[in-house]
Amino acid sequence: MKNLMSKIISLSKRRGFIFQSSEIYGGFSSCYDFGPLGVKMKNNIKEVWWDDMIKNHENIVGLDAAILMSPRVWEASGHLTAGFADTLVECKSCHKRFRADEIKKQGKDRGGTAPKVCPECGGELTKPRKFNLMMRTFVGPVEEKAAVSYLRAETCQGIYVNFENVLNSMRLKIPFGIAQIGKAFRNEITPKDFIYRTREFEQMEMQWFCHPKKATKYFNFWVKERIRWYQNLGIKKKNLRIKEIPKKELPHYAKKGIDIEYKFPFGWREIEGIHNRGDFDLSNHSKYSGKDLRYFDEETKEKYFPYIVETSGGVDRSFFVFLVDAYQEIKGGRTKTTKPTKEVEILLKLHKKLAPIKVAILPLVRNKPELVKKAKEVYQMLKPYFRSQYDELGSIGRRYRRGDEIGVLYAMTIDFDTLKNDDVTIRWRDSMEQIRVDIKKLSEVLKQLLADEIEFNKDDKLIKTLSKQTLF
Ligand code: GAP
Repeated sequence: MKNLMSKIISLSKRRGFIFQSSEIYGGFSSCYDFGPLGVKMKNNIKEVWWDDMIKNHENIVGLDAAILMSPRVWEASGHLTAGFADTLVECKSCHKRFRADEIKKQGKDRGGTAPKVCPECGGELTKPRKFNLMMRTFVGPVEEKAAVSYLRAETCQGIYVNFENVLNSMRLKIPFGIAQIGKAFRNEITPKDFIYRTREFEQMEMQWFCHPKKATKYFNFWVKERIRWYQNLGIKKKNLRIKEIPKKELPHYAKKGIDIEYKFPFGWREIEGIHNRGDFDLSNHSKYSGKDLRYFDEETKEKYFPYIVETSGGVDRSFFVFLVDAYQEIKGGRTKTTKPTKEVEILLKLHKKLAPIKVAILPLVRNKPELVKKAKEVYQMLKPYFRSQYDELGSIGRRYRRGDEIGVLYAMTIDFDTLKNDDVTIRWRDSMEQIRVDIKKLSEVLKQLLADEIEFNKDDKLIKTLSKQTLF
């Protein structure tokens, strides 16, 4: 679709999904604020991920570790010494980073000076600089070397340093997983592409601790599981792919890795990494902390460092993917009218679990107090149980379209028949089909619609299905 990025950015601002941080001061580079609808949708994404990890898989527990940790953690993890602190140049176009010394060597090998363009895509390179992606801060009142700490660059380090605490307190046995969602910070050289690459972002990470001999099996298992998660939430298969990371490009901690990539308007890009981290983390934390983090298997009497298979996804990147994948435009409008119209209708076909607002309650017109009164009663009835909104401004068609644009699933119209029969029309966002439902049964019908894949159609199959379930 033409100009999809600017359309998504415009919709995000116009309808309260995402705002530029500190906008009234001219904005703050690479930071974004999630508005009223954005925060609901973001929380939905996190909830669905959390539920999938904790409820749908056995032996996974949760954690919420502090963002600030001992600086020793980052020495042990390699973030202060390895790839995170090299002299780098970065391609402004494809964002691949190259060690400045390697680029120089390439130039010498060719008998000239260092190339000024990206060896991968020919894009312009930034100037070489000592670059550590860790965000430094000072803990306590004195800004001295001893007080230096870091905002975490990945959430998983909080999991590794709590490995023993979680193992013992929850009486777990290998294999098991620890899941965590939280903020991470990286001083990215060239943040760009809206919320794709930012300096402050959120990660959803799960670290799976297993016997070294089983790591490959679990690695393959988690790749499939994570692809399934995106597809179950409606992401089109054709827009997802797996990229195997070549050995020389692997992060310093990984033995093997793949990226799950999505076809963004600006090309295929990583949305999640799955890594076999071997025993890199636990053995290094053992060495640096002096604490033996090996696991003792009571049955086999074996003592070993478990291998870690991690799934590491970005909340913000998933958010972006869900928005882009759901965005549709219908030229001429969706409603068949006799007159051709130039209007372009926007439909945000978000998965029902992710849509920030599930239900809209709409009086047919707002100048009839009895309709408004009834609609407000229905709104008050549904509000505690469903993410609902009440809307009385503009024509009913316009209100439907306002709802479609932000992904509202079910719109309920309170009309004159409602006053006679105590029932309402429910209109489904995706097909615009409508059914008539008794107000007394409304909550139950909505609960079913939101929970299951029950077919929504005019023949009242839904109602019949529900009636068999002793609702009526
Ligand atoms: N613990 C492993 C790890 O952090 P990563 O590939 O560096 O691996 C994992 O990051 C995920 O975190 C990425 O796939 C992406 O979704 C998200 N992420 C990383 N850097 C990001 C950034 N600057 N802005 C937004 N999301 C980012």
